[in-house]
Formats: sequence, C-alpha cells, structure tokens
Amino acid sequence: DDDCCSAEDRREIQHIWDTVWSSSFTDRKVAIAGAVFKDLFHHYPSAKGLFERVKVAEPDSGEYHSHLVRVANGLDLLINLFQDTQVLDKQLAHLAEQHILRKGVTQQFFKGIGESFARVFPQVSSCFNLEAWNRCFHTLADRISRDLPH
Ligand code: HEM
Repeated sequence: DDDCCSAEDRREIQHIWDTVWSSSFTDRKVAIAGAVFKDLFHHYPSAKGLFERVKVAEPDSGEYHSHLVRVANGLDLLINLFQDTQVLDKQLAHLAEQHILRKGVTQQFFKGIGESFARVFPQVSSCFNLEAWNRCFHTLADRISRDLPH
C-alpha cells in the first residue's frame, strides 16, 4: 500500500533524517532544499512564479535562503513529530491552511515536490531508503494538499 507509512518506515526516516538534515548547519539545509526546489522548477516551470515574493529570481539572496530554511524546518518538524500523532495532525492542518492562502499552489505541485525529494535525497545520503521515504512523504503531502486545487 503506497499510502501506508508504518512505524518501521517512520523510524527509518527519522534515522536517515538525523544523518542527512537535522545537523544544525543551515548551509546544508539551504543547499539541499535549494536543490529540491531547483529540480521542482525544472520539471514544473510554472511553480517558480509562486516564489517571486521571496526572490526566487535571486537564488543567492537572503530572502530566498530564508524561504528555503522555513520549508526545511517545516519538514524537519513534521518528521520529528512522527511519534506524536495528535500534534502532527495539527501541524499538518496548519501547513495546509498556510498553503491554501497562497493562490496558485496545487496538489500537482505537492506531487511534484515529492518526486524532487526522491531524486535529490539519494544523492545526499547513500543509504537512503526511497520506498520508506515515498510512503511517509505521500502521507504528509496528501494531508497538506488535500484541500488545494488540482
Ligand atoms: C512538504 C512540502 C512543503 C513544506 C513542508 C512546506 C512548508 C512551507 C513553510 C513552512 C512555509 C512558510 C510559511 C510562512 O512562514 O508563511 C511555506 C511557504 C510557501 N510554500 Fe510551502 N511547503 C511545502 C511544499 C510546497 C509546494 C509543493 C509549493 C508549491 C509549489 C509550496 C508553496 C509555498 C509558497 C508559495 C509559500 C509562500 C512563499 C512566500 O513566503 O511568499 N510549498 N511552505
């Protein structure tokens, strides 16, 4: 079942996560999240315009870097909440509301960013368990994007 994110999957993701991402080095988060968004814009060019406010046209700007850090920390928070279903649900609902407010954000882009993560992460972590990641990411992304337009 592609939608299932088992307890074992969650533990695995958290373990990999600790090695890939949660190091407090902001530079690393910016580099990885930047690569993910770059991949997204390559496959879904129309998504790029949504990030004009945060200066996507100047990818080395402080504005764009701080956007990348916000998204990275948002994901970090979700993964660290895997064990606390009640809080996780509320945080997912909060992210869903934040994205509904941004006109032009669609379910398709959430599908797209899942594909981008799946292309980028195996390059940063040699022991990346893509199947576990995809199962868990879909569970999160489906909840955030379920009330967005297609
Ligand atoms: C799991 C994936 C994602 C996570 C965790 C995430 C998280 C976040 C967070 C935390 C913010 C900052 C909210 C704020 O402080 O106002 C944000 C903003 C935003 N996100 Fe996402 N996001 C994700 C995927 C996407 C996708 C796929 C799109 C559309 C392509 C998108 C579009 C936006 C836009 C347009 C903003 C506002 C940018 C601005 O500040 O002007 N996000 N996101």
